[in-house]
Amino acid sequence: MPPLRVVALISGRGSNLKRLIDAAGPYSIVGVVSNKSDAPGLAFAEATEIPTAVVQRAQFQTPTEYRNHLATVVASFTPALVVLAGFMELIKEPFLSRFPNQIINIHPSILPAYPGLDTHARVIADLQNSTSAPDSLVHGCTVHLVDDGMDTGPIIAQAICEVHTDDTPETLSARVNTYEHRLYPWVVTEIASGAISLNNAKIIVSPEAHTRAKLHGFLIP
Ligand code: GRF
Repeated sequence: MPPLRVVALISGRGSNLKRLIDAAGPYSIVGVVSNKSDAPGLAFAEATEIPTAVVQRAQFQTPTEYRNHLATVVASFTPALVVLAGFMELIKEPFLSRFPNQIINIHPSILPAYPGLDTHARVIADLQNSTSAPDSLVHGCTVHLVDDGMDTGPIIAQAICEVHTDDTPETLSARVNTYEHRLYPWVVTEIASGAISLNNAKIIVSPEAHTRAKLHGFLIP
């Protein structure tokens, strides 16, 4: 079976992109598209000779023109899967329907808790204001199928991590990142092998992938 063709969309640092590139095999990152020309993550693609493209909102008159062009650039790499790896904008039409059941995202919380931005700071604030046991607070990361909401698409897999009472947003973010770096390549590998399939907003996970998830400590809903 040829590797699954994956295009990554980034806006910034690109640490998840780096892990995805390093774990390629069953899948191949065939293109990286950034909406920021100075995204440091582009360097990871360039270092491994993966083609890159920059598409910036400011170059277009309307959001529709921008998203149409973004979709055309992504489509030019003929991806089977589009992974958002720190792509800091909402995926909307006319981009979304160009890649039906093909766009996934990683989000730094256990969705549906803490959608949106600044998840780590909000978790810490809730921990400090909480009257219940600190360990009742669940944090980590989620890989989900993308729909037109903000972090609302069907959940594929999650990894839970500890929150410490002396955490800062930085220490917590660094800890969650280490879980993201294991979870995202695992999910993409399972999709590439067909053990996880994305079907009309329904996620189908094989019994073998369930077993492997358990071994890694990942949760599948
Ligand atoms: C990650 O925390 C990811 O969950 C969120 O954006 C961050 C991207 O980090 N969507 P990086 O650019 O992959 O280092």
